[in-house]
Amino acid sequence: MKVIFVCLGNICRSPMAEAMFYQLLVTNHLTDQVSVSSRATSSEEEGNRPHPGTRQILEEHHLDDRGHRSTPIKRQDFYDADLIIGMDAMNMRHLRTIAPKGEQDKVRAINDLTPGHQGEPIPDPWYTLRFDDTYNSLKRSLPYWLDYVKERLD
Ligand code: 4NP
Repeated sequence: MKVIFVCLGNICRSPMAEAMFYQLLVTNHLTDQVSVSSRATSSEEEGNRPHPGTRQILEEHHLDDRGHRSTPIKRQDFYDADLIIGMDAMNMRHLRTIAPKGEQDKVRAINDLTPGHQGEPIPDPWYTLRFDDTYNSLKRSLPYWLDYVKERLD
């Protein structure tokens, strides 16, 4: 199974989600069965490393960005992935617009499964520099996606 997290620049929120979800896969011994990556809806930051604030918070939590570089999402990603998870309403609009027919159901919002937080975005630290808020918000939502994925493995 393949999971892709998506945000606008792929330097703040989605690489953080990728690194945190990867750690969940490691601790649950699922790295052989599940892969995770992240993508941008824009090409603005293409090739760039995660934002220094994201790198710092990952370091503080002993997480690794695995050399990630910002990569725009492309059509093939929608066929390759099983789940494509956007961070806010703008990401969702973009993803639903570009998803090929038949692949639309793979596109989900990050808090779709978070009790009491459905419809809420992951705070974008690009504007606030509050990378801890982003981390805490992802920390709450990601375990529900881990359970979702686990239930769908054979
Ligand atoms: P991200 O954050 O989508 O979480 O990676 C942003 C990165 C870049 C910009 C905005 C948000 N930007 O405007 O360039």
